[in-house]
Amino acid sequence: MTKILLLHGPNLNLLGIREPQVYGHMMLGDINDKVKEHAAQYNVEITAKQSNHEGVLIDTLHEAREWAAGVVMNPGAYTHTSVAIRDAISATQLAVVEVHLSNVHAREEFRHHSYLAPVCVGQIAGFGWRSYILGLDALLGHLGLLDE
Ligand code: DQA
Repeated sequence: MTKILLLHGPNLNLLGIREPQVYGHMMLGDINDKVKEHAAQYNVEITAKQSNHEGVLIDTLHEAREWAAGVVMNPGAYTHTSVAIRDAISATQLAVVEVHLSNVHAREEFRHHSYLAPVCVGQIAGFGWRSYILGLDALLGHLGLLDE
């Protein structure tokens, strides 16, 4: 069975109560359930993790090298700041799809730049919780695991 890491960065544990006008009303657990449900139809198993700590996210990526076929990641604000997470993605050579609930390009200027996007397979932003579903499909397609 193909195993995929679903990795959420800082403040995403507060989804549902955090700025719902921007990030929607769905809680993180509900999003994880939606992605797992969607993945099951492809016989893909999702392991979901969240951390507010840059180093823990890096350790999680390093460990994923051993077991994950790829990663769907919402790096939260670390998208716009973290050279260390970018280096972890490069170092592990993991296939990572960067996802965002909000359209970061339509928001404040500091959210327009991603340190991670250049070392990711691609980026999906602006579709609320469905960004994760689109991100998973994009990743599986990239890995050659979807029908043409
Ligand atoms: C986010 C966008 C980031 O700019 C922000 O810091 C987040 C959430 C999103 O999913 O839209 O924490 O990654």
